[in-house]
Amino acid sequence: MPEWLKDAVFYEIYPQSFKDTNSDGIGDLNGIIEKLDYVKSLGANALWINPCFDSPFKDAGYDVRDYKKVAERYGTNEDLIHLFEEAHARGIRVLLDLVPGHTSDTHEWFIKSSQYEENEYSGRYVWTSNAFEGIGGHPYISGMTERYGAYMLNFFASQPALNYGWLNRTEKWMSAVDSPEALATIEAMKDVMRFWLDAGCDGFRVDMADSLVKNDDENKSATAKIWRSVREMLDADYPEAALVSEWSNPKQAINGGGFHMDFYLDHWHNGYNTLLRDYETGGEDNSFFRAEGKGDIMRFLDDYLPKYRVTSKNGYISMFTCNHDTPRPARTLSVPELKIAYAFILSMPGIPFIYYGDEIGMKFLDVRSKEGGYHRTGSRTPMQWDDTKNHGFSDCEEEKLYLPVDQSENAPSVKAQEEDPDSLLNTVRSLTSLRHRFKDLQADASFRTVYAVREEMPFVYERGNLLCALNPSKQGVRIRLSECRGRKAVYTIGEAEIEHEILTIGPQSFAVFE
Ligand code: GLC
Ligand code: CA
Repeated sequence: MPEWLKDAVFYEIYPQSFKDTNSDGIGDLNGIIEKLDYVKSLGANALWINPCFDSPFKDAGYDVRDYKKVAERYGTNEDLIHLFEEAHARGIRVLLDLVPGHTSDTHEWFIKSSQYEENEYSGRYVWTSNAFEGIGGHPYISGMTERYGAYMLNFFASQPALNYGWLNRTEKWMSAVDSPEALATIEAMKDVMRFWLDAGCDGFRVDMADSLVKNDDENKSATAKIWRSVREMLDADYPEAALVSEWSNPKQAINGGGFHMDFYLDHWHNGYNTLLRDYETGGEDNSFFRAEGKGDIMRFLDDYLPKYRVTSKNGYISMFTCNHDTPRPARTLSVPELKIAYAFILSMPGIPFIYYGDEIGMKFLDVRSKEGGYHRTGSRTPMQWDDTKNHGFSDCEEEKLYLPVDQSENAPSVKAQEEDPDSLLNTVRSLTSLRHRFKDLQADASFRTVYAVREEMPFVYERGNLLCALNPSKQGVRIRLSECRGRKAVYTIGEAEIEHEILTIGPQSFAVFE
């Protein structure tokens, strides 16, 4: 386990929308470099950058055309290497986004794979032998290639599935997981990883990490085995490198696949979603962090605790404020609500991720789909730095902007919030610095619930020797807890105090006691 992960706080950057330095309306690597001091000021010491590789951008870059080449619109490979250096000089690690399950259908491997003549790449993707038959319920395309057969899709129509073999093979054309072509795909992906690790990157966020082997078993054991071999490669040759999976099944990803971290994604009805985004279940918003919510932390804990217990010795569950696929939390949470939600995320075990702009409460905008974003596009709009043209994101003409900026009167900005000690931005800063100050708030320290009662406030939990208490509701509460005895607050949002064994915590408040 890389030592640096223990105190890592990640910041996710969607490069299109962070900072444009050459006035073409699209964010770029030099823009990220320019803002590294800002990232550091947030208390983030690691970055995850969404795919920045050559691509036709049918899925915002998750359709890679060349894994080893930075997309022109972001800069050059040299710029990316320069970014690694500048980040490292500030104590910031950089994870790139690895998309191992599919490429763009314009990738050279795929172009060769679709040719009539058999060649080195014929087995690189999942192909059937008959253009007139489908793939048993899996999405596929046929009729577009010289090659006889249909090819399987891993996501959108432009994203053919790379071939890692099938665990349960029911057709002759299905490769075995240990076939030469499946092994060659794994080697090709390891080669890509080595390429960027050798260039100075610190690891990868892995896109759809569970999607490799088809017809895998219920534990995804064949896919997990591939990732274990990747972990072995890292442990041997790049022991400081880290891997985080888009899987949302920590037992499979961490215990099975050897991932250092696994994202707790916004899946319907899972524990994480009940906290921030519980509004698609019939119109009513029951998110725990809403002041008017149902206030039921048990809906989170019932899902989280078993996952935490079986994986906490081997790796970390990663909670995020949001990501480029999910609605921003500000879609339904107000600033006072966000403060308590972020206090929770930044005081939990595992490794937290902050999505660019969430630290100022950027809104989820109602904008037209861009590059395959569809409903996700509203979380991908340009960062709001200040009150100058295009909120300081770019000095280009408005029509050239990658996506429109928030035009509303009360659009938050970094500049305005820097000046207000009570702003969301400064609250996030105080929370990250608190986490850095106390080992007991970091990734490894133990987690135990002290007071968690269905539909009641507050929620009290122990991290190591610290006691954390939060009350997102509108009513202040008071409870007696023996764990409170002799403690004093080291951090408070709102109002909270302990007298003997009595904890009093005001509305929309959070506190940490020593
Ligand atoms: C992941 C990415 C998403 C992308 C998809 C296909 O879910 O986060 O943005 O569209 O994979 O690569
Ligand atoms: Ca640019």
